[in-house]
Amino acid sequence: MKIICRCEDVTEEDVVKAIKEGYTTLDELKHVLRLGMGPCQGRTCIPLAARILARETGKKVSEIELQTSRPPVVPVPLGLLASGESDKND
Ligand code: FES
Repeated sequence: MKIICRCEDVTEEDVVKAIKEGYTTLDELKHVLRLGMGPCQGRTCIPLAARILARETGKKVSEIELQTSRPPVVPVPLGLLASGESDKND
């Protein structure tokens, strides 16, 4: 048993099974397996999952679409976060 995601305890077998069930993008694998949702935010497991996905779908790793990034809804100045104060517009 090869662990792919240490943070969420996901194995290579879990990833291959999900791909065979039809989850063939990194976003879909993330949703069904919580892959990449741990404290490291997928630094280790996402590249490994991309390689497995490429192998299982017959694609090149460069053809695997990376995850959709979701920036904050509203920009927040870092100084505001550091001060611990709330926004004056609240
Ligand atoms: S190893 Fe997958 S989220 Fe950390």
